[in-house]
Amino acid sequence: MDRWIVGNWKMNGSLPELTAFADGLRRAAPGGWGARGVKVAVCPPFPYLAATQRAFEGMPLGVGAQNVHPAASGAFTGEISTKMLKEVGAQLCIVGHSERRAQFHESNAFIGEKLRALLDAGIRPILCVGETLAEREGGKQAAVVQEQLDGCLRGTAAASSAALLIAYEPVWAIGTGRTASAAQAQEMHASIRAWLETQWGKTAAQSVPLMYGGSVTAQNAAGLFAEPDVQGALVGGASLKADSFLGIINSALR
Ligand code: PGA
Repeated sequence: MDRWIVGNWKMNGSLPELTAFADGLRRAAPGGWGARGVKVAVCPPFPYLAATQRAFEGMPLGVGAQNVHPAASGAFTGEISTKMLKEVGAQLCIVGHSERRAQFHESNAFIGEKLRALLDAGIRPILCVGETLAEREGGKQAAVVQEQLDGCLRGTAAASSAALLIAYEPVWAIGTGRTASAAQAQEMHASIRAWLETQWGKTAAQSVPLMYGGSVTAQNAAGLFAEPDVQGALVGGASLKADSFLGIINSALR
């Protein structure tokens, strides 16, 4: 299965920084990533989507969004539809990020609606799941993640597995410099895979790339990718600069 390296810029960056980032990646002559089993994409803030698409022209780099509204159109001030994302070239979209769950009170049911709207529109959702520190310390991490999966994916057909990406992002590891150990990531990824299998059967479950996110760097990426159920990374801070992002991509090449 291909490995996926996706940058999540969150509310960071600027047009000059985008140009510097794209120039840095271009200098690395990234022609061979696809042939070496790695798919790469970046999710910038909405206003930069079209410019990012242009800046990446001729490079094997996809563009994704960080959010979407499930409705087709209407009175939703400040929101963006799947059709609008498609028009500016977004191929992927993050849903269920813990920052949106915590700060914008997004429920599993609402995240599920977004996810299905994306699938209907032909945009790949990256569904984020993950437990807080208190939940891990209470030994509840597997149950919490299964509840998130159940709440977001219930009612989603097995055929959707072909377009779906899942990112396990323990909340305590995001932006903290404290990454999960490779063993902790593998344990959770295996549990996510087992849950998918109960819903959709083995073949579909095996086809979903499971990414890890939370303080991934060029230094710790190779250890994570060595695990059998870790097929990539959702990268925040280290995706903002070409050099650190390239280091992670290089660790994923086969
Ligand atoms: P981080 O963020 O790499 O800065 O920890 C990851 C994420 O929130 O997707």
